Amino acid sequence: MASTSSFRAWHCLLALSLLSSAARGQLSPTFYATSCPMLELIVRATMTTAIVAERRMGASLLRLFFHDCFVQGCDASILLDDITGSFTGEKGAGPNVNSVRGFEVIDQIKANVEAVCPGVVSCADIVALAARDGTLLLGGPTWAVPLGRRDSTTASLNQANSDLPAPTSSLAALITSFGNKGLSARDLTALSGAHTIGFSQCLNFRDHIYNDTNVDSAFAALRRGSCPAAQGSGDTNLAPLDAQTQLVFDTAYYGNLLVRRSLLHSDQELFNGGSQDALVTQYSSNPALFAADFVTAMIKMGSISPLTGTAGQIRANCRVVNSS
Ligand code: HEM
Ligand SMILES: *[C@@H]1O[C@H](CO)[C@@H](O)[C@H](O)[C@H]1NC(C)=O
Repeated sequence: MASTSSFRAWHCLLALSLLSSAARGQLSPTFYATSCPMLELIVRATMTTAIVAERRMGASLLRLFFHDCFVQGCDASILLDDITGSFTGEKGAGPNVNSVRGFEVIDQIKANVEAVCPGVVSCADIVALAARDGTLLLGGPTWAVPLGRRDSTTASLNQANSDLPAPTSSLAALITSFGNKGLSARDLTALSGAHTIGFSQCLNFRDHIYNDTNVDSAFAALRRGSCPAAQGSGDTNLAPLDAQTQLVFDTAYYGNLLVRRSLLHSDQELFNGGSQDALVTQYSSNPALFAADFVTAMIKMGSISPLTGTAGQIRANCRVVNSS
């Protein structure tokens, strides 16, 4: 009798814990340990090849993960192609169009993974692992990525337009935007350190270098040299987000903020007499603190409303919803 009831109690506990972990959308770094043990090696090898071919790709895949997670959660919705007349994806949204890149690398990783473990690994988890490896391969920290996300059958152009923050945002708007996703102001400031790598197009920083007053004048003059004042002229010209070490994941981004040499208006908002000034100053001189906070915030961002259990699907092709 005692053993029966304790057996029942154990079952009840197990059922409860399964239920609550499903409800919380619990992810685990060992999710594919038996179903696809080679997964992380395959992602690392494919990312290494991509970054040897073009180092910037590490930055592009880190950004792809952010733009996935902020729209419907980390569900690979950003990967779905538009199909004229039948499906509208997120690739045409303002913050994504002619800007987000790396889709071919995701296709390559998916092909390599499908060759070894067909039908098992989600595109959403591949994006999360690619973002981690892009960070690491450009010199940044590494971490165990919680896995077990599934892929969406829907996308939201409207949410991509409304929920991805614009480079014209104020600090208050950035804090609200991240707060809406369950991320704190500290997470915002740590995650913005991703702008230690990669590039921006002139149309996204023109206003800042011509019209803002909190910009170092020599830096503004330098950037104006490759970003003409007139709208529509040189819009796609690139400049590095971190003027010092554009393809090395370090803390130079924060040092730039201290001397008003950040490329985006939204970046300089983090150090402009407001609530994040002290943290920016700390990160600029404490790489270990930045690395720890960045990893914590990446894991939090990667946990935004994942599809788990039997929700969603494992897409066969990351660009389209499965046909049956
Ligand atoms: C805080 C709000 C943010 C704003 C307003 C913002 C805005 C931007 C803009 C305008 C660009 C340049 C895009 C272009 O010109 O094509 C960019 C690039 C980039 N962003 Fe952000 N971003 C934000 C946060 C983040 C976060 C949280 C991450 C990742 C954790 C991130 C990672 C990147 C990377 C790596 C690039 C360079 C991509 C490349 O070179 O391909 N950003 N961002
Ligand atoms: C600077 O601001 C003015 C007034 O808002 C605007 O008309 C102009 O286009 C801006 N210049 C640049 C280069 O963004």
